[in-house]
Amino acid sequence: MSVRVVVGLQWGDEGKGKVVDWLAEEADLVVRYQGGANAGHTVQVGGETYVFHLIPSGILHSAKVCVIGNGTVVDPETLVREIEDLERRGVRVRGRLHVSHAAHMVLPVHRAVDHLWESSPGAPRIGTTGRGIGPTYADKAARVGIRMGDLLDARELESKLRVLLARHAGTFAERGEAPPVLATLLEACGRYRECLGPLVADTASIVNAAIDRGQLVLLEGAQGTLLDVDHGTYPYVTSSSPVAGAAGGGSGIGPTRITEVIGVAKAYTTRVGEGPFPTEISGPEGEALQKAGNEFGATTGRPRRCGWLDLVALRRAAMINHVSEVIVTKLDVLAGLPEVRVCVEYQTPAGTGGFPMEPHLLERCEPVYRTFEGWRETQPHAEDRSLPPQASRFLAFVASEIGAPIRRVSAGVGRQDMIPIG
Ligand code: GDP
Ligand code: IMO
Ligand code: MG
Repeated sequence: MSVRVVVGLQWGDEGKGKVVDWLAEEADLVVRYQGGANAGHTVQVGGETYVFHLIPSGILHSAKVCVIGNGTVVDPETLVREIEDLERRGVRVRGRLHVSHAAHMVLPVHRAVDHLWESSPGAPRIGTTGRGIGPTYADKAARVGIRMGDLLDARELESKLRVLLARHAGTFAERGEAPPVLATLLEACGRYRECLGPLVADTASIVNAAIDRGQLVLLEGAQGTLLDVDHGTYPYVTSSSPVAGAAGGGSGIGPTRITEVIGVAKAYTTRVGEGPFPTEISGPEGEALQKAGNEFGATTGRPRRCGWLDLVALRRAAMINHVSEVIVTKLDVLAGLPEVRVCVEYQTPAGTGGFPMEPHLLERCEPVYRTFEGWRETQPHAEDRSLPPQASRFLAFVASEIGAPIRRVSAGVGRQDMIPIG
């Protein structure tokens, strides 16, 4: 029995989708445990590019079962589109995908409220993806949300939608905006029911039964540790918990069933949206990294802010998730640089130190760098797959600093570019 969590260790976009696609080869079941269509996971297989927002990238392996767990928030419009796109491209989805009855639905009203909150005078602008994530999780916590299971009972659904719309009426009125119309929402839900109704299931029982049978289960996180609503750079975070500790709750299994936590980190750092970012590189150097790494968001198309690898933040993320190993991605992007920098500690007004307890203090931290000699090759040696010695030295240092082994790295966009090392 093996249950592995795949978790992002930075501010998202670490390459989790690619890692999950690769690990799914030996898995039986893949579960997404939190987040919604704010995620964008790009996977390249045999020259084809797939972008996933809700469905685990394990779906590309035809024999695997996939689950969208109770901890997620599901935009039915996006899910229907994703299923249809994949099936049009020859990937069978129906019959292999189950969606938790307890996953909350992201409705058009949530997307509208997300925009209103973001443009609210006096409130911090987070730079959200605009996918309605915050308002949906807020409604879930306030116990007025609509769940996927509610789609199956039209009468219950209508009364719950009335409560939901009443709750948000004031927000629209205050801003002089027209509120959503119940009849339109009901009509949309009718369409969602037709396509998604058959997929709604008690996924906790499905996942636990797979583990009982001795199957290998992968739990796929979205976003990253520094975007976690508790452990991230609050308030510049998402509204769910991507950390490994939340993976059991978001898929309906007990924590002692989890056997491994695989952290994913880029060889540098990126961030989309607002919020502190100590190792951010501004100007042409940052733009060059953005271009080399093709750092443009798969969900919103926004350019990602780029910076050096931040070991202070990474050590914190490794601790919070208690990672068993770390997979470093996008090593190829750094190739060709004369030198590569990594932040080893922060200089603060009070002296040097680690990750501050109060996120606003992160704004005032100055990174202290250690510099490594760069490497020229963009790919590992073809014959023995070994890495350039400079890259190996860089990785050995990173592994010793975070206190976890790095046994595989990714040095290219394709499935074949995953390299075992050490
Ligand atoms: P995720 O959200 O964590 O799944 O990451 P994204 O898919 O949003 O962003 C990672 C991007 O980098 C995608 O476009 C991947 O195709 C690409 N990628 C993943 N691993 C590598 C790698 O090792 N090298 C390069 N050059 N690109 C990679
Ligand atoms: P994946 O799974 C990078 C960021 C947004 C914003 C903040 C809050 O592809 O790694 P939200 O819409 O969630 O309320 O936005 O979180 N964000 C991501 N950044 N990758 C993601 O997902 C993200 N999902 C949300 O840019 O700063
Ligand atoms: Mg992404």
